[in-house]
Amino acid sequence: MSEGPDSREAGPDRPIGFFDSGVGGLTVLHECLVSLPAEDYLYVGDSGHFPYGEKSADELLERAQVIAGYLLDQDVKLLVVACNSATSAAGDSVRELGRKAGVPVVTVVGPEAEIAGAITENGRIGVLATPATVSSGAYHRALEEQGRAFTVTEVAAPDLAPIIQGGATFSEEVVETVRGYCRPLKEARIDTLILGCTHYPLIAPLLQRILGRDVRLVTAGHAIAGAIQRRLASEGALRDGDGEGGYGFRVTGEKESFVTLGTRFLQLPLGDRVEHLEI
Ligand code: DGL
Repeated sequence: MSEGPDSREAGPDRPIGFFDSGVGGLTVLHECLVSLPAEDYLYVGDSGHFPYGEKSADELLERAQVIAGYLLDQDVKLLVVACNSATSAAGDSVRELGRKAGVPVVTVVGPEAEIAGAITENGRIGVLATPATVSSGAYHRALEEQGRAFTVTEVAAPDLAPIIQGGATFSEEVVETVRGYCRPLKEARIDTLILGCTHYPLIAPLLQRILGRDVRLVTAGHAIAGAIQRRLASEGALRDGDGEGGYGFRVTGEKESFVTLGTRFLQLPLGDRVEHLEI
């Protein structure tokens, strides 16, 4: 396994950059580590500015630009915005930064909306997301673009990402909180729920239990891994070979909880691969 992505030269061997407000984007990275194991990955968790879900669009735009700028400076070959709140407020702006740097940008929101539109049978789609994502209307627009008349029920969940990032995922209190968020979704008789925050796949079993087996949960990871593969392949930048690439992490908050949670979520050793980053 290679040591880490920092000293790569131009070409397929450059790392793929990711960012999120904390550990949520690891749910997307996880799919990529499985689907594209030969690639190198560099992940920024902006935990020093968590939670993004309560920030204004202007604040999110500023953070997204700073982090995207940092990752582009690290010479990533593709940039993944693995955060719905950041994508909702700053997706276009990050795409523009990538375009100027000649680096493709892949974001969440669109891929999940597409999957949800394709698999719903009764046309009733739920979206569970942060307040920032819900108030941006990003999922409404992405679903509307498909040109079908879906009934969309969006629920803003201010507590959920902080609960997950805090690591205390499964107390009775958490179950009651999640039950409360699910109530309007059940009343709306949705058959498909978009997990519109990259933190939420970490409580997918709890959501599934409360909503019932018939409701399909849509997450970003698988679709994003596919989008990355297609994009890199079309540019001849996919890394070949059977080997395993490296992965490294930068966090703007404290390291220890990121290491603990991240190790649990990724089921890979993170310890000496996490560095503090002041940006
Ligand atoms: N994981 C993030 C998202 O997808 C943000 C959670 C937060 O920082 O509030 O929206």
